[in-house]
Amino acid sequence: PGVLFIRQTHCNEAAWTKRTIFSVPSFPWEISPSALRSCMSAWVIDQYGTDGVLKYTEEMPVPSVGSTSEVLIRVHAASLNPLDISMKGGYGAKLLNLRRDPMSVMAGASEFPLVLGRDVSGEVVDCGSDVTHVVPGDEVWAAVPPWKQGSLAEFVTLTEYEVSHKPKLLSHTEAASIPYVANTALSALVNAGGLCRDSASNKRVLITGASGGVGTFSIQLLKAWGAHVTVTCSQNAEGLVRGLGADEVVDYTAGDSLELLEMMEKFDVILDNVGGETEEWATGLLKPWSGAKYVTLVSPLLLQTDSMGLLDGMLQAGLSLHNKAMQNIISCGVFYRWGFYAPDGPALDEVSKLVDAGKILPVVEAQFPFTQVPQAFQKVENGHARGKTVVRVVEDDDKRAEGLGRTRRSEAADSEQEEREMATQN
Ligand SMILES: NC(=O)c1ccc[n+]([C@@H]2O[C@H](COP(=O)([O-])OP(=O)(O)OC[C@H]3O[C@@H](n4cnc5c(N)ncnc54)[C@H](OP(=O)(O)O)[C@@H]3O)[C@@H](O)[C@H]2O)c1
Repeated sequence: PGVLFIRQTHCNEAAWTKRTIFSVPSFPWEISPSALRSCMSAWVIDQYGTDGVLKYTEEMPVPSVGSTSEVLIRVHAASLNPLDISMKGGYGAKLLNLRRDPMSVMAGASEFPLVLGRDVSGEVVDCGSDVTHVVPGDEVWAAVPPWKQGSLAEFVTLTEYEVSHKPKLLSHTEAASIPYVANTALSALVNAGGLCRDSASNKRVLITGASGGVGTFSIQLLKAWGAHVTVTCSQNAEGLVRGLGADEVVDYTAGDSLELLEMMEKFDVILDNVGGETEEWATGLLKPWSGAKYVTLVSPLLLQTDSMGLLDGMLQAGLSLHNKAMQNIISCGVFYRWGFYAPDGPALDEVSKLVDAGKILPVVEAQFPFTQVPQAFQKVENGHARGKTVVRVVEDDDKRAEGLGRTRRSEAADSEQEEREMATQN
């Protein structure tokens, strides 16, 4: 059955009544929510900044299916990534605005009000005429590209290609913790790192910054593919990463971490989630002259286009990538590459199978109701992630998986959540 919202007055959530319909084939019930409702609740920014720019509104226009390949999704849960914190401050604005309006046809148009939030788990409510993979009523998950309006809203539109059926065993809250880090890790490990399900077996992979969103997903994916996984993280994350399958764990806060890594057998692939100084020593840990690859997720591209402008920034970033790649290939025969998130629904279909097979667990460190999005941002901004921070957009999300203990949670996450709940009650 579909769910239809019938509009009674103007843009007031309380004035909507919910009516369940059963296979009514056509008019009047097959009208999309965007045709029936004009406004939705969302967290938006109207300007870039650090404090106080996030605003709750009930006046955000409901997006509509704008092309024949688009899908309108009712968001049940969203999650936050470090990118949301950076984008709130204006990070990447120049390049993302170019992607939003490549021909600059919308002269004078602004990206504001801008909705952040890169992950969605929810339900399809409307589809363009060419969409064949999903139908209204399907439960889906997706990573929302940063150049599109995000998922901290009641509805979001995506193309069919970006959307995938959500794993059946996960609640929406759990499912929302995976898509953006999964699409990023897969793009980095497969496209830049040259690994895949069939080639990863027994490959030695090092993941730096393994206790966060990308790392906790990557450990599980690589173990499902049969790789040998070494990670770096803080000492208090060791239990979490070992529980996810890491074979070797190096505490980067101990003074001897580099010596420990140098004593190990060399690696085929390094996935660097930390950047900065790490890349100065990491390439030396790769097997020389063997096609080994260093892939960093921390590239200067967007920072440079922000500070230098599109043309100079891209030239400067391209030059620095070229120089590092040449230097590494000439001196020790290893590849130096940048990894980026890439939208990919079919890749999420594969992840969904691994989740339903119990090979990948969601790692939800903290969850917040939709009313507490600023607190969720603060949590992510504080750093030291142990998995993901999720926002429950719909509170009636089912709890089917939570009782089964499928979500991997660190002890620190449990006690933090308890403290937060007590603070809210007080
Ligand atoms: N290029 C792209 O398209 C793309 C896409 C996604 C993410 N990213 C970037 O990739 C990075 C990882 O993303 P994420 O979502 O996993 O971030 P995250 O959830 O914030 O996780 C980062 C983790 O690294 C740990 N850490 C910090 N410094 C470390 C160090 N020196 N050595 C080892 N571990 C360290 C942190 O814990 P402790 O501080 O407690 O140790 C935290 O657990 C971020 O910089 C993000 O912006 C890029």
